[in-house]
Amino acid sequence: MSKLVTIYGGSGFVGRYIARRMAKLGWRVRVAVRRPNEALFVKPYGSVGQVEPVFCNIRDDESVRSVMHGADAVVNCVGTFDARGKNNFDAVQSEGAGRIARIAAEEGVESFVHLSAIGADRESASSYARTKGLGEEAVLASFPSAMILRPSVIFGMEDNFFNRFAGMARMGPVLPLVGADMKFQPVYVDNVAEAAEKGLTGVAAPGIYELGGPEVKSFRAFIEEMLSVIRRRKMLLNLPFGLASVMGRVSEFVQRITGGLFTAPITRDQVIMLRKDNVVSDGAKGLKELGITPVAPEAVLPDYLWRFRPGGQYDAIKESAASLRTE
Ligand SMILES: NC(=O)c1ccc[n+]([C@@H]2O[C@H](COP(=O)([O-])OP(=O)(O)OC[C@H]3O[C@@H](n4cnc5c(N)ncnc54)[C@H](OP(=O)(O)O)[C@@H]3O)[C@@H](O)[C@H]2O)c1
Repeated sequence: MSKLVTIYGGSGFVGRYIARRMAKLGWRVRVAVRRPNEALFVKPYGSVGQVEPVFCNIRDDESVRSVMHGADAVVNCVGTFDARGKNNFDAVQSEGAGRIARIAAEEGVESFVHLSAIGADRESASSYARTKGLGEEAVLASFPSAMILRPSVIFGMEDNFFNRFAGMARMGPVLPLVGADMKFQPVYVDNVAEAAEKGLTGVAAPGIYELGGPEVKSFRAFIEEMLSVIRRRKMLLNLPFGLASVMGRVSEFVQRITGGLFTAPITRDQVIMLRKDNVVSDGAKGLKELGITPVAPEAVLPDYLWRFRPGGQYDAIKESAASLRTE
């Protein structure tokens, strides 16, 4: 019988890349999410019945246990940006992470990988970073041999970073940024998935790994790179943190009173996080120690950002026609 991995949050941005890799290795894959009906796209990652979306809510013990039955390895990819509601920071990133690790230890799971984030710290003023720190502690308390991955901002086809700013760049002459001078080190999604694969298959040593790409640049510099890929010129406006925080408060309020119909473009918690660089710390173990070559944004951004160009998919044809005319 082939080995079985349960991927909590396996339909999300990162989880689906891990699912695809584990299926390719011949493992059976259980994708544990709240809406398995919306995760059917994972089934073709393997042969018939090899990859199965199943219902699970990591806020409930029995739900977590039932989808872990018989698993050799477990990875937790569930995260949130919600400060309120049932699926909030504490419920998911701290208590949920601890719950999965505790049950994994009770069930005799062999390997455990947990997705955290750079900046995870129980003392942080940001609820996201604080609960990531508490989550790591809870995981290690129950499962000391866990692999903990702390990525910087993750990029790739379905990312919420470059896609989001490229979408905003279509709307007007000015692109507002918060923390434009802060340093980022974006890491490619499949590099993160490969790191997780090494943890799940026992190839990598346990411990905390900080994952960053090959380039460290300011937030502004990455946005300029994105703008050149989508061939748009915009004025970049660096918003002061104080003003951004007020905007965060107002947009969170509007999101609440519209019942989520309006999505806050930025939250106060995100403004707190943007006050710090998001890069791999000195001396931290990372992709190099895992034997993974990091992919640079410039190598993949054109593959998925072309749709934000003024002429979309026809831009390349127009350019090649234009060069024909000048010859
Ligand atoms: N993306 C980044 O740039 C980035 C950077 C650093 C760290 N991280 C961390 O990496 C991890 C993966 O991020 P991601 O971007 O892949 O997240 P994502 O796309 O938002 O995916 C989250 C997944 O969790 C599931 N989920 C949410 N609440 C759940 C619950 N209560 N019970 C069970 N499943 C639940 C979601 O499916 P349902 O909604 O169907 O339940 C979805 O499959 C997270 O821990 C995140 O904090 C991400």
